[in-house]
Parts: sequence; structure tokens; C-alpha cells
Amino acid sequence: METVRDFDVENKKVLVRCDFNVPLDERGNIVDDFRIQESLPTIQYLREKGAHVMLIAHLGRPLEGERSSLKVVAERLEQLLGEKVSLGDGGLSARGQRDLVLLENIRFHKEEQENNLEFAKKLAAKGDLYINNAFATSHRAHASLVGIPQFLPSGAGLLLEKEVVALQKIIKNPKKPLVVIVGGTKVETKADFLDEMSKIADAILL
Ligand code: 3PG
Repeated sequence: METVRDFDVENKKVLVRCDFNVPLDERGNIVDDFRIQESLPTIQYLREKGAHVMLIAHLGRPLEGERSSLKVVAERLEQLLGEKVSLGDGGLSARGQRDLVLLENIRFHKEEQENNLEFAKKLAAKGDLYINNAFATSHRAHASLVGIPQFLPSGAGLLLEKEVVALQKIIKNPKKPLVVIVGGTKVETKADFLDEMSKIADAILL
């Protein structure tokens, strides 16, 4: 698996697909920022190496009526990273000053979930390299996940790598007895994973 470490990213424009689909309370405040925290090592790595970074993410399901802005995520990122995170639909300008941009909720564009290739191509045109760090969204065949890498060199972010390495360990060489604990919501989307795990696990706790 090629990862972000395998590329020379200095002064490159790097598009990073993140999973910032965090739970919000009724006032729109972040209830749990775990997913944002877990994304930080990849972003910090890229910044330290001198990359211009554009983060791409979704929040909720706008096509089903939840129109949540990523503004709260940009604010939280600013606090955690200690640098300005511009929220917007603009491109990476590479004006000499290194940019850190969070693109507004990518699902505001219906083309994202349609996996529209023209849309993916437009996004790809904003960068030199694509990094997928959105492990928790990687089961979706959406433009920002499977479309962009058709037009750009691409690799895994540090979080995606961490998750894949951990999964490979239990799939290839499970220490027995193996008990798999599965959390989160939307259990119906995890049916395939549970099927696979039931072949190697002694017990699955849902
Ligand atoms: C998740 O929270 O499971 C991922 O971000 C994917 O979100 P989705 O189920 O709305 O596609």
C-alpha cells in the first residue's frame, strides 16, 4: 500500500479525503471530535513537509435533508492545529504561502454521491496528489473517494494505513480466541464486514 510517506509533497497541492462525519448536538455543536483528532497526524505530517493541503469531507446526508456546514469542523481543526483553516469552495492558490483549506461539505454537490466523473476531474484539477484518509467512508463509491484517484497519483493517509494494518493483523494471523467488538451506528452498512469477521472470530459483540 503506497502511503503519504512515499511521495515528495514539498510545495505540492495535496487533496486529502477525511472522515469528519462527527456527531452534532441540537445546536450544531460537536459532541465527539474523535474522528477529527484521528485525522491530525496526516494533516500535520503534510504541513511539516511543506505541502499545500485541501481537506475534503462530508457531514451528514444533505440529500436526505440534513444540510450541515463543515464550519464547526474548520473551527475545531483551527483550535487543534493552531493555524488558520479556510473554509470554502475555492482552489489551492499556491501563492507562495502554504494554504490549509477545508472544502465545504462535499455532499452539498449531488455529483459526489452520484460518483460523477466530471465532478471528480474538476476536484482532481485542484491538486497534484490525492490522499485517502477517510477509512470510515471508504466503503462508499463516491466521487471524492473513487473518482479523484482516477486522475491523480494517490496513496493512503496515516489513519487509513493504521486501520488497514490493524485489520490485516486479525484477518491474516488472528490470536485466538478472537472477540470482535463492533460499535457505531448504521449497523446495516457493516453486514459484509460482520460476515467476514464471523468466519474468523470466536464471538462478535455488537
Ligand atoms: C459514517 O459515518 O459511517 C461515514 O462517514 C459514512 O457516512 P454515510 O453512512 O452517511 O455514508
